[in-house]
Amino acid sequence: MIGAKRRYYEETDSTNSRAKEWAKQGALDGSIVIADKQCAGRGRNGKVWTSPSGVGIWMSIILRPLLEAQELAPLTLITGLAMCEAIEEVTGVETKIKWPNDLVVKDKKLCGILCEMQATQKGVQHVIVGIGVNVNTEAFDVSLPYATSLYKVTGHQYNREQIIDAFCNVFEKYYRHYHDTKSFGDFKEKYEDKCITLNNKVKIIDNQQNYEAYAQHISEEGHLVILKEDGQTEEVYAGEVSVRGLYGYV
Ligand code: BTN
Repeated sequence: MIGAKRRYYEETDSTNSRAKEWAKQGALDGSIVIADKQCAGRGRNGKVWTSPSGVGIWMSIILRPLLEAQELAPLTLITGLAMCEAIEEVTGVETKIKWPNDLVVKDKKLCGILCEMQATQKGVQHVIVGIGVNVNTEAFDVSLPYATSLYKVTGHQYNREQIIDAFCNVFEKYYRHYHDTKSFGDFKEKYEDKCITLNNKVKIIDNQQNYEAYAQHISEEGHLVILKEDGQTEEVYAGEVSVRGLYGYV
């Protein structure tokens, strides 16, 4: 089901925008949009996602889950987990996850995920899961000191389609399981093993305030549980806060 229907673009502004259009025209659950180049790739928090031609995976999945809006958060976490597994299967490179869903190698970012959803009073209409992976990028602009690629890590070029196909297989399994159980519980241990944010002091970047805390674990809902300096524990939600290491990106 995931990736059974595909639309390819040589160049587009953003695959998330193409996917949103296709979803409104009735695209089936699991359809994917892939571009060789994006000229207006979007990152989280209004950032630009640099997406040059021929070197990356710039793709968006259209999902039509029968879930409530508040049940969607784990979907982005399991997307990251599935991409970790796919990359490892195809390239042998072991990636880590910076909560909630940045894939990291040697403290630099390899992959980012941007989820956008359309909900009405009738419920969730569709979810667009946008994924960007730097695969064969040889060099990054100086403005991206924390970016890396599979090529930079290994010195090898990889076939992007092979990684996409491996991802679709793993993600299909994970998505079905989450959809059926509506619980992150079965993914929690695997996710925590991969998550470099945990057991470290982090900086929580909130709209109102920035503060330091200790990242303890991931809750059954996929939230980050932190221990604050006043001794209180609190759950923080992806989408509402950003988390940084004390000395850099990780
Ligand atoms: C992040 O900021 O970490 C999220 C980056 C998401 C980038 C991907 S590339 C494919 C899809 N289309 C976009 O415009 N953004 C996402």
